[in-house]
Amino acid sequence: MQIITTKTDLQQVVATCKKEGKTIGLVPTMGALHAGHASLVKRAVKDNDVCIVSVFVNPTQFNNKEDLAKYPRNIERDANLLSEIGAHYVFAPTPEEMYSAEEMNTTFQFDFAGLDKVMEGKMRPGHFNGVVQVVSRLFYLTQPDKAYFGEKDFQQLAIIHHMVERSSMAGTFGKLQIIDCPIVREESGLALSSRNERLSADEKQTALAISKTLFASLEWAKNASVQEVQQRVIDTINAVPSLEVEYYEIVDQTTLLPTDTFANAIGCITVYCGPVRLIDNIKYA
Ligand code: PAF
Repeated sequence: MQIITTKTDLQQVVATCKKEGKTIGLVPTMGALHAGHASLVKRAVKDNDVCIVSVFVNPTQFNNKEDLAKYPRNIERDANLLSEIGAHYVFAPTPEEMYSAEEMNTTFQFDFAGLDKVMEGKMRPGHFNGVVQVVSRLFYLTQPDKAYFGEKDFQQLAIIHHMVERSSMAGTFGKLQIIDCPIVREESGLALSSRNERLSADEKQTALAISKTLFASLEWAKNASVQEVQQRVIDTINAVPSLEVEYYEIVDQTTLLPTDTFANAIGCITVYCGPVRLIDNIKYA
């Protein structure tokens, strides 16, 4: 496995792969890799001739400087894991290599057809502009046949599908397929996240109430309205000391707009466990 740190080197590798007729699978990450990322990488290795994993904590998608500073980073550990599971290249640029000073400070503008106005988008203004800024650049640099994303960030995935299918990028990235990968959970039910590294042992135990409540809500949904289930999830989690729900919204999986039926519905949640912001979701259909 080779670690690449410059755009020029990456583009050379990609050009050689293309010349040799090799297919490329891209797994964009921000590092602090866990079994959830590993499942994406294993799939990319299996499906493609070459698997490129990017490890880049993208500053433009953080609207909270403290969150950016505290985001866990461990490139050595990440590289060891990626090498073990068969990735071919790791692209790990610095922010200065990735962006010009102007790009770093300009908000990238993109029409998300309203998908960015709800939930994470409402709570983290500009977040999805930054995500699309970096993901579109990674697509441009790596020219992948397939790119792999986890369903834990369901709204991100919806926005990336939108960007690829409906924007002018459909021409640029014509053959690119976005592959949705299911949430990976600990045996306890806790959704794997790089942010779990910041939880103490006690907080990790407390955080279990999130997935437990979401799973219980599948039962509640059999005999209650969307509104009732939504409120019961919020109340149940808020009743646990040290947990505070930022939002729980049951929305349509396609439009991400509130829905009053469970058909095609997904519940998306963000909860503060002490200082750590955790997200999770559950599909009702
Ligand atoms: O999901 C993530 O880790 C990031 O948002 C992504 C897609 C790697 C872009 O920085």
